[in-house]
Amino acid sequence: TNPTETKTSAAVTYQFPTDFWWGTASSATQMEGAAFEGGKGLNIWDYWYMQQPNRFFNGVSATEASNFYHLYEQDIALMKELGHNTFRFSISWSRLFPEGVGEVNEEAITFYNNVINCLIDHGIEPFINLYHFDMPMALQDRGGWESRDVVDAYVQFAKTCFELFGDRVTTWFTHNEPIVPVEGGYLYDFHYPNVVDFKRAVQVAYHSILSSALAIQAYREQGQSGQIGIILNLTPSYPRSQHPADVQASRLADAIFNRSFLDPSVLGTFPEELIDVLQEQGAMPEMQSGDLDLIRANTIDLLGINYYQPRRVKAKASLPNPDAPFLPENLFDFYEMPGRKMNPYRGWEIYEQGVYDILINLKDNYGNIPCFISENGMGVEGEERYRDADGSVQDDYRIDFIREHLKWTHRALEEGANVKGYHLWTFMDNWSWSNAYKNRYGFVGVDLTTQERTVKKSGHWFKQVIANHGFTE
Ligand code: BG6
Repeated sequence: TNPTETKTSAAVTYQFPTDFWWGTASSATQMEGAAFEGGKGLNIWDYWYMQQPNRFFNGVSATEASNFYHLYEQDIALMKELGHNTFRFSISWSRLFPEGVGEVNEEAITFYNNVINCLIDHGIEPFINLYHFDMPMALQDRGGWESRDVVDAYVQFAKTCFELFGDRVTTWFTHNEPIVPVEGGYLYDFHYPNVVDFKRAVQVAYHSILSSALAIQAYREQGQSGQIGIILNLTPSYPRSQHPADVQASRLADAIFNRSFLDPSVLGTFPEELIDVLQEQGAMPEMQSGDLDLIRANTIDLLGINYYQPRRVKAKASLPNPDAPFLPENLFDFYEMPGRKMNPYRGWEIYEQGVYDILINLKDNYGNIPCFISENGMGVEGEERYRDADGSVQDDYRIDFIREHLKWTHRALEEGANVKGYHLWTFMDNWSWSNAYKNRYGFVGVDLTTQERTVKKSGHWFKQVIANHGFTE
């Protein structure tokens, strides 16, 4: 199953292993809908929307989302039709445990069993993630990730999921992008509870890491035979220049935004640069004795890499305001590289080589941990203007985006990276947090009024890529 890149004068073939994972990623809140059905409890998104609907694009909530809760059979049938062999989704904690702990909701068990069985019946391997930004409100009221009790509640949730579904699901993830709730909820005000406080943010990050290690420990103690990992959004950090001050700024950004979760998850340790910053800021988290041993002993089997954009950094141009709350940007400035390629719709840089740099870094510095591209994708605002007469979005820009990232993935594979698959974000257009339906990401377009699904050009193109285990151009 070795990858090969065949060069003829006319064309290059990018051949991937025959057992490569091809599919898409999603999350419960963004896709299920049925927010107040099936016995589900409130999560922070339901609650925040009730408090501040104007914080959501066009005032749209996740109540209906893409209605996977009711339409999962037809959606899974479409995944099969498009040739996918894997699908990642998350379990809504507040659907399974409406109060976060205690009573399990039987309707949720039935729903997730149905989804898992339906996927397996269609030859699609389910990958399950446990936490995707959706804290049950009952637990947020008790401190959310700042509270050690909530870590215990999460471990109970994880154990229950392994017991209920571990007989059929053999690929698990503890968290998706755990730094995002830290940034959104505790530093930059784009998630509930809208706190701006570095020390509290660090406690949330620390408890997320600890909870992941505890869930991994529980998985292994149960004697489960599958693999368990974490999904991280890695943003390779590039300095403006090789000037030592720029390089140091970039190293700090890397320690804070990438290695803070990558090092403990893969190596079981924390980067020294990060600890120095926390000590200087008086922001070391509260820990209990034994925690660090536990984190060291329970590292991951498999890493999911979400890659959207790099982070370009330069040395700080001026001293930060000493009266403003401390933020990571007190230590470096972001750098808008002239001539960089942008996704004009989402405002994110497109730098395809970033995926290669991540994979080679994992190979060289992280023991070549088994990994896969668990999210990559292109959000497009106003995508309906690219629909043809049949309603199918002609998204050649998305095809280019995926193809170029796959080429760099292929190159890393040829150089020995341990990369096992590629998942697009996402299968069908879905609800994206406070951006709601602003940016569309799917292989499949969704009409929000009728919930009708229409495969985009990229969905058909990807089907061919899967069938051929790659592509030629
Ligand atoms: C990832 C998340 O950060 O990017 C998804 O795992 C999210 O939940 C996706 O939807 C795209 O980002 P956005 O903000 O454009 O929806």
